Amino acid sequence: MTLDAPREVRTGRSVAKVYDYGAHVWSWTLDSEPVLWTSERSVFEHGKALRGGVPICWPWFGPGRSGNLTPAHGLARISDWTLTGLDESSGTTVLRYTLTAAASPEVLSGADWTVTYEVSIGDDLELALTVANQGETDFSYELALHAYLTVGDVRQVAIGGLDGATYLDKVTRQRESQTGDVTITAETDRVYDRAGEVVVTDPVLGRRLRIRTEGAANTVVWNPWVAKAGAMPDFGDDEWPGMLCVEAGNVLDQAVTLAPGEAATLRYGVAVELT
Ligand code: BG6
Repeated sequence: MTLDAPREVRTGRSVAKVYDYGAHVWSWTLDSEPVLWTSERSVFEHGKALRGGVPICWPWFGPGRSGNLTPAHGLARISDWTLTGLDESSGTTVLRYTLTAAASPEVLSGADWTVTYEVSIGDDLELALTVANQGETDFSYELALHAYLTVGDVRQVAIGGLDGATYLDKVTRQRESQTGDVTITAETDRVYDRAGEVVVTDPVLGRRLRIRTEGAANTVVWNPWVAKAGAMPDFGDDEWPGMLCVEAGNVLDQAVTLAPGEAATLRYGVAVELT
């Protein structure tokens, strides 16, 4: 079944499109320039993940810690979320989405939880996802806000903020340590053991994307490069130079465990600076 059209939010300088399906921020433009990347080959069908914007990976990341969970990146991005709030004030619009164990028990079976997602659209994009444990037993999850960023040419960007951080290289399966800025010269799929501020300097588009995160332990940097892009049916063969994923999350051995009554929030913000 084809998805309903996304909600369109317009503020002073920005326009965003957000699907209730997946609570998926699909696009965000500032002064008419796209900041989030969207694939022209994305599929818009229930049961399939969108390719672009900001998928929510929950309650597991990729194939999960066991390495054998499906669907990839968990069920949140292919679930119908409920819009529970819409506030407009002075140049910022906030959408509030909720996903609950009562409505979607299959997502994290056996647990009682509520996920609340606040999307603030304005001159910056601010995302805040809160998982609350309302049950009587602990549960664990992985989580990532899997932002696809638009870049002029991924081969020319510099990603700052990760110097000295250790990471798992998912392409080679080796653990490494970052020296200097991250640059993209081949298929790149890395889980860094650090989150915080990451700055993507883009000389082609003449801008810096300043990414601020809170509540995350990991930064994931992903670009599929030529062969992997060619192998994905929902990713155009020539689209990979124009995108870069800089994701914030708590994955692998940084998965979160919530005791009864506890809640945890992951925040991800993007600000654009022209250079
Ligand atoms: C990244 C992962 O976050 O997402 C990659 O690190 C993965 O391994 C990529 O290929 C895309 O995943 P998917 O399920 O949306 O094709």
